[in-house]
Amino acid sequence: MTSTTLTAPEATHKKVFIKTFGCQMNEYDSDKMVDVLRAAEGYEPTQNVDEADLVLFNTCSVREKAQEKVFSDLGRIKHLKKKGVKIGVGGCVASQEGGAIIERAPYVDVVFGPQTLHRLPELLRARDALAKPQVDITFPEIEKFDHLPPAKVDGATAFVSIMEGCSKYCSYCVVPYTRGEEVSRPFEDVMREVQGLADQGVKEVTLLGQNVNAYRGTMGGKMAVSEEICDFATLIERVAEISSIQRIRYTTSHPNEFTQALIDVYARVPKLVSHLHLPVQHASDRILMAMKRGYTALQYKSTVRKLRAIRPEISMSSDFIVGFPGETDADFDKMMALIEDIGYDSSFSFIFSPRPGTPAANLADDTPHDVKLKRLQHLQATIDANVQRISASRVGTIQRLLVEGPSRRPEKSAPGAIYAQQVMGRTDCNRIVNFDGGPNAQRLIGQMLDVRITEALPHSLRAEVVVG
Ligand code: SAM
Ligand code: SF4
Ligand code: F3S
Repeated sequence: MTSTTLTAPEATHKKVFIKTFGCQMNEYDSDKMVDVLRAAEGYEPTQNVDEADLVLFNTCSVREKAQEKVFSDLGRIKHLKKKGVKIGVGGCVASQEGGAIIERAPYVDVVFGPQTLHRLPELLRARDALAKPQVDITFPEIEKFDHLPPAKVDGATAFVSIMEGCSKYCSYCVVPYTRGEEVSRPFEDVMREVQGLADQGVKEVTLLGQNVNAYRGTMGGKMAVSEEICDFATLIERVAEISSIQRIRYTTSHPNEFTQALIDVYARVPKLVSHLHLPVQHASDRILMAMKRGYTALQYKSTVRKLRAIRPEISMSSDFIVGFPGETDADFDKMMALIEDIGYDSSFSFIFSPRPGTPAANLADDTPHDVKLKRLQHLQATIDANVQRISASRVGTIQRLLVEGPSRRPEKSAPGAIYAQQVMGRTDCNRIVNFDGGPNAQRLIGQMLDVRITEALPHSLRAEVVVG
């Protein structure tokens, strides 16, 4: 394209660089920030911070380290202010700290929370008009979804937020304070968004929320005479009725609301993938109680057993917290026994981080840090070994992939391979698979395809296309 083909508005696009910390809810919100800024101010996203007119940090405060990283990263971009770049802080640290961010980093122009990101254009304008930093971290209930422009799709997969916040108040966790109480989006809104994505070529949706199985969406629209409530099991069935949606994922679900109705959906809806992230956090009932998780290890295992009776091949993953205050060797052994028992696939594990304002931050904690670290390393090594075992067991099997795009590291393919033909997709159970798509590789992107797994690598699989 020559420069003369650029239209005037394209030539003057402002650029926004967003650095996202934390969970998929934040990734989703970062995409929405681009959507609102594009619609209101003509911004386009950039991966290059040096060409940005606006730099946004979408932050996470789930652990102390994540929170402190924000301030060190802010210090690193402070010099950009000299050339007129604006700086904004959103997400969970913003929600928790509010105006204190401006006190600590006075060069920040706007601070906004997860529920006020749709007001970003307004806040930036007010920043200019009033010549002072703006802070809005209120919780206008679910208002944000009414103010977001339709999503611009990039690829065959998409996230759809179905609920916001969390009302579980686990004793260690900041999320209920940073994102507010659980609020479900109305059923029709969710369906409209999924249909809109499907119309733009999306084949796989991931339904998002802190506790998706607490979903209770009102049905019937604003004019309905009586209100009906749609639960999570019903929502999955209705999404599956959209014919071009071929795969449904969700994250995160909570063991407490994993109802029989939801388990039964696995029998009826083949589009629901055979992979479940169901965080257990711990397996000592004493610790689970102190965490206020509301279930026992036996109840958790019983849910997994019922699910595996319907989907024997389902792969499970979890989050684990190591070194919760008062955790003994015996408690930790119980966690390791559960890990052996369930046979988890790739999982997330963290050392307990006391978060200001949460009840667990005040509990006596006499376990030395190096003991916690050793426990964490042991847990992670055990899960890694299991992941490798599961990957190796896939070699020789036929797997159905959704082809997502070019391989991220084509240089890792077989010697002599043509880089442009290397593509990647994901299995049902979320494994990345790289393969040679041949001369028409680009046309495979966005398609479902059967491949034969040929090799298990530490973080991915290799495969060949099944012919015939
Ligand atoms: N809602 C999900 C659930 O309850 O399973 C989890 C969401 S939370 C944002 C993500 C993970 O962060 C949790 O599953 C937990 O393992 C971890 N986490 C939360 N607070 C933590 C803390 N204070 N210290 C260490 N890890 C923590
Ligand atoms: Fe945090 Fe517990 Fe809510 Fe998950 S369920 S977000 S761990 S309070
Ligand atoms: Fe972090 Fe907030 Fe997500 S604390 S994990 S970004 S909900």
